[in-house]
Amino acid sequence: MAQYIPEPYRIKMVEPIRQTTYEERIEAIRAADYNMFSLASSDVYIDMLTDSGTNAMSDQQWAAMMQGDESYAGSRSYGQLMEVAHDIFNYEYIQPVHQGRAAEHMLFPLLLKKGMVSISNYHFDTTSGHVQLSGAKVINCVSAEAADTQSYAPFKGNMDTGKLKKLIREYGPENVGCIVMTITCNSAGGQPVSLANIKETAAIAREHDIPLVIDAARYAENAFFIKEREEGQQDRSIKEIVRDIFAEGDAFTMSAKKDGIVNIGGLVGVRENPELIKGIKSRVVPYEGFLTYGGLAGRDLGAMAVGLTEGMDEDFLRSYVGQTKYLGDRCRELGVPIQYPTGGHAIFVDARKVMPHIPYYRFPAHTLCVALYLEGGIRGCDIGSFILDPDPETGEQLEADLELSRFCIPRRTYTQAHLDYVAEKLADVMKRSEEFQGFEVLEQAKVLRHFTAKLKPYTA
Ligand code: F0G
Repeated sequence: MAQYIPEPYRIKMVEPIRQTTYEERIEAIRAADYNMFSLASSDVYIDMLTDSGTNAMSDQQWAAMMQGDESYAGSRSYGQLMEVAHDIFNYEYIQPVHQGRAAEHMLFPLLLKKGMVSISNYHFDTTSGHVQLSGAKVINCVSAEAADTQSYAPFKGNMDTGKLKKLIREYGPENVGCIVMTITCNSAGGQPVSLANIKETAAIAREHDIPLVIDAARYAENAFFIKEREEGQQDRSIKEIVRDIFAEGDAFTMSAKKDGIVNIGGLVGVRENPELIKGIKSRVVPYEGFLTYGGLAGRDLGAMAVGLTEGMDEDFLRSYVGQTKYLGDRCRELGVPIQYPTGGHAIFVDARKVMPHIPYYRFPAHTLCVALYLEGGIRGCDIGSFILDPDPETGEQLEADLELSRFCIPRRTYTQAHLDYVAEKLADVMKRSEEFQGFEVLEQAKVLRHFTAKLKPYTA
């Protein structure tokens, strides 16, 4: 039986949500051109589109919001954030920015140019967007274990270091602009990366003089998994493990909208590289604003300072990762195939197994999301072939390694009963999967098309 860990917080403020009728949902998804991002949130009952910026802030964070210092330069809230962030990450330079992709925008053009490649365990879609905008090519290099959604492995987000070495030889180290370690590995199912794998990857990067960039959106969850699953880490604090992780990186980009438990915000950090620091500073001012606010209000900086600390609290992490495991276990009990073991922030349903009759170019994972929305007003998103932009050279639809439908759990937001409802509706969709035939794209942007594309149901 799936076990639910009681939350280490109680509810102080609520936000009403409303269930819609089946007919209302048909109308809403049609009006949204079958794109989950085009649905109005008022037409969604349980919103699992993302765990990004959708988390519930604590009373302490709201108190910090009220005390935000909105000075243009040298704000007190900036000082609070820097004190906390330097203490956690121990990098020479840490810069607030408005969100994770802004951190990528500040850093990647300084590391990459045309003809270069960026190699990652898996680039998140905005990261791959910024690599490509810098003129470089994206290569993902996640361990083969990630592709087998049904068998247990403790660290499915690991970099395939054998393949990484081969790629470096093939392209030449001078053409590898950076190695990106995404923790946890969102695109492979929110799967963690082991400390040993981070160290091994860093050693390879150092040997070839290639900067290692940590994509730290879910660094605290990753540290929690290391503590739970990696030999010799059980008696260490989350903070000690986080320190060890970051000591291996040369720079990091971070969306604070996840483990930072804020609605908006991000960071970019450089361990020690005066040239890179100078480069980032010169980009921050025109793109994000003055260095001591970086695209954020003072109150946002204050909320992030508190959120970074709360996000590393072990009781909180046990409860949050426990919610994801609970939902995953309920799904498995009901026969819904998920990426196993469950990762940090979401369950990922193996859509190839639910909708085997739909080929990748008709987007089975997206189809499953539409089906679940119609069934229960639940919103998730495709992490499969639909999220991949067409090949920039040939325009061909690329095939993803995995066709996953992602249902995220916003932090401190939903209860056990909500999660039970989601698992049951997924099981209902399984019974009706043959009613769906997939989708065709009617209109799409060149980069990050899945946010705005218009689709229509495929009919033979
Ligand atoms: N890196 C990772 C691993 C992410 O998951 C995200 C965002 C980003 C970078 C970009 O950060 O949104 O603050 O600009 N992921 C969200 C998601 C959007 O739904 O997984 P951002």
